[in-house]
Amino acid sequence: MIEVKNLHKSFGEKKVLNGITLVIPDGVTYCIIGRSGCGKSVLIKNIVGLLEPDQGEVIIDGMNIHKLENEELLKIRERFGFVFQGSALFDSYTVYENVVMGLYERGIRDEKILSAEAQKALTAVGLLPKPEEVTKEEFDKEWKILKDKMPADLSGGMKKRVGVARALVGNPSYIFYDEPTTGLDPVTSEQVDNLIAELAKGLSVTSIIITHDLFSVFKIADFIAMIDDGNLVFNGTVDEFRMSNNPIVQEFLERYKTKVL
Ligand SMILES: Nc1ncnc2c1ncn2[C@@H]1O[C@H](COP(=O)(O)OP(=O)(O)OP(=O)(O)O)[C@@H](O)[C@H]1O
Ligand SMILES: [Mg+2]
Repeated sequence: MIEVKNLHKSFGEKKVLNGITLVIPDGVTYCIIGRSGCGKSVLIKNIVGLLEPDQGEVIIDGMNIHKLENEELLKIRERFGFVFQGSALFDSYTVYENVVMGLYERGIRDEKILSAEAQKALTAVGLLPKPEEVTKEEFDKEWKILKDKMPADLSGGMKKRVGVARALVGNPSYIFYDEPTTGLDPVTSEQVDNLIAELAKGLSVTSIIITHDLFSVFKIADFIAMIDDGNLVFNGTVDEFRMSNNPIVQEFLERYKTKVL
């Protein structure tokens, strides 16, 4: 469980988070929405300990993550997977190297373990066939072709999938997605949404997703938190969101409707 308590963050004179309080129970899919620049990425970075809050606390599985020693922080981060804004693959590394990077950084060097983990994650995101559905020769052939591909050889949708695969290695309990469908065409966006929803169900992870895409939100969210100008202006279920009288929520919904019609 993630508990965010009265979180404040400013950069110089600029107040970005103005006392955010939020509880994210285990196993749910929580979407964080709000207009550009409202503080979504800063909130996530505070939650995972990449930024220090000025005031307030983040408690993850009972631990105050801003009070942890470096080693403990690294340990708890092993339970997190990140899909950063943009696909954020390293262009000079192969697909395989990109996917196992986190494990490598944790000191795992055994090629057998690394390639088994990469294969599992790349299968989960649909870039490799399920081993039980093909012969070993077929699987190995596909793996050989995929593993040495460079990011420049991949479509936008494939890059996102590789980014998701990288977040999955090491069986995280929490996966953070920062705008996973931005910049993708509607069909590919839908595939990525389906993937997130499947992973959330199949792996029983807790998914925290920042998105501008209300199509995605209505498809995958259990809960929605909406930030406006550093304040939490809505926090509740998708149905509560649709029925909300809050003018900021309604403005968001209006925009969504005009896109759909
Ligand atoms: N490291 C930083 N130093 C100074 N200002 C920052 C820093 N990170 C973010 N900001 C500022 O904080 C505000 C919120 O940024 P944030 O990245 O959280 O927005 P966002 O809601 O994720 O927007 P978007 O939807 O465009 O990604 C912005 O005004 C941004 O310029
Ligand atoms: Mg952002």
